[in-house]
Amino acid sequence: MLPKKYTWLILLSLISINEALRILVWFPLFSKSHNILGKGITKHLLEAGHEVVHVTSIPQKTPVPNLTEIDVSTIEKKFKEDAEKYEHFKLKNLVGKKNFGDSLFFLYMAYEISRLSLEDETVQKFFADPMQEFDAVILEWFFSDYIAGIAPLYNCPLIWVGSTEAHWQVLKLVDDIPNPAYNVDLFSLASPPLTFWERVEELWTMVKKYVVINCLVVPFEKRMYNRIFSEIAEKKGIALPSYDDAVYNASLLYLYSHPSIGTPFRLPQNAKYVGGYHIDTKVKPLPKDLQKIMDDAKEGVIYFSMGSNLQSVDMTENMRNSLLKMFSKLKQKVIWKFEDDLKNVPENVHLVKWAPQQSILAHPNLKMFITHGGQLSTTEAIHFGVPVVGIPVFGDQYVNMKSAEDKGFGISVKLAEDMADDILAAVREILNNPIYKTKAKELSAIFHDRPMSPGQELVFWLEYVVRTGGAKHLRSPAVQVPMYQKLYLDLMVVLVLAFAVLWTVGKKVIGKRKVVTISKSGKKDKVN
Ligand SMILES: *[C@@H]1O[C@H](CO)[C@@H](O)[C@H](O)[C@H]1NC(C)=O
Repeated sequence: MLPKKYTWLILLSLISINEALRILVWFPLFSKSHNILGKGITKHLLEAGHEVVHVTSIPQKTPVPNLTEIDVSTIEKKFKEDAEKYEHFKLKNLVGKKNFGDSLFFLYMAYEISRLSLEDETVQKFFADPMQEFDAVILEWFFSDYIAGIAPLYNCPLIWVGSTEAHWQVLKLVDDIPNPAYNVDLFSLASPPLTFWERVEELWTMVKKYVVINCLVVPFEKRMYNRIFSEIAEKKGIALPSYDDAVYNASLLYLYSHPSIGTPFRLPQNAKYVGGYHIDTKVKPLPKDLQKIMDDAKEGVIYFSMGSNLQSVDMTENMRNSLLKMFSKLKQKVIWKFEDDLKNVPENVHLVKWAPQQSILAHPNLKMFITHGGQLSTTEAIHFGVPVVGIPVFGDQYVNMKSAEDKGFGISVKLAEDMADDILAAVREILNNPIYKTKAKELSAIFHDRPMSPGQELVFWLEYVVRTGGAKHLRSPAVQVPMYQKLYLDLMVVLVLAFAVLWTVGKKVIGKRKVVTISKSGKKDKVN
């Protein structure tokens, strides 16, 4: 046993090793799910004793020690001023549409959201404040790169967060572009192994996007980058790095995914899977009414939610009624997250305007989750080992549901006016065939089988990056190599030139020889 005075010494030294860091967490998106991810990071950092400034559209109502929130909720109002554009996102307007993530409008939207948040008055004031210093900045990457300019303002390491499954657009920030022959686009409908035509389509999608982004988006971004950041940098007396030097200088990439639910991508040393960190390790108790419904459900419960962005209330009346009718045929209780009141609701259907999703998923009587296939929903389903029926609508939801089907814990149904019968068939299949539940449990065990929890891992790598001055030793050399060198276009030019020279020289030599032969024969002729 150590004498008491030594215990104090040891305690003191521990405190001085665990120095509190000051971190900027940039998650300005006004969608609820993105906000959940920003809050999750913030929570883990605060619990580890660090100080956080969180740029968010949905601030917390009560003050939290060591947390400063910068409220950017005005960007939602500005963005939605053009209400007609916003209609694009409503469920009823997405039936039978192509994935709108592939549209130019989507690229424009991402660029605009970044612009609105960077130009926000509060943010501008905050950037200009000379008292603000940070040990690292954590930025949510959402289809535009130029927010990378925030890190140089504080001369500290940059950490990207990809809030979806890995994909080439986010991986290219820290590594090479992955091979499209077996790494599909985030908005793809296919999954590996790919057929010949799928492979061709993936290549085409990537080349097309690469060209559009580099020729159309990047010039805009560069202009914006210089306009927004050079002024602040000048005020602060900092030399602003070039756009490329800022964008491709990340120390770390957090990926909100895990191989148990998605594709096991080949990642560079500084990309880390932290999917699941937002899930509370301790399940909160259900509200009394829901607890009773779930406890009493002898035949089990089916939980239905289209997430927070896509609201069930935006379905057409026809779709809504056919779903109610279909649910009435089931013996199970159905909890449906529906954001309004409805008449003629069958006895076994219970509508809730807000659902404590994690607590519902954790209940042993839950049979399945009917979901839109958002990344948070499918991750929570696997965290709790629940099979899913998915109705993907846009974005990465197709990729997520394709993976759920391939892995055997879910069935996908196509979004349509008359999808009720298809959903019923999928629900019956999952109720009657235990394989889906077994798979979900199996994958859940794999999901939890990690050296440390995703929240701990997130904190560990952040501290590691700060400790090692930006973890330069983990960075992939690929980010330093321009595309023409990766494709060996320079070698190609050399080979073509060499061939051309050989060809010309060769032609001349052969040509001369011919002349010589002719003249020889000519002489011979004369001799004869
Ligand atoms: C790149 O990151 C390192 C480490 O975080 C930092 O020291 C350096 O200033 C950054 N360079 C640029 C050009 O931003």
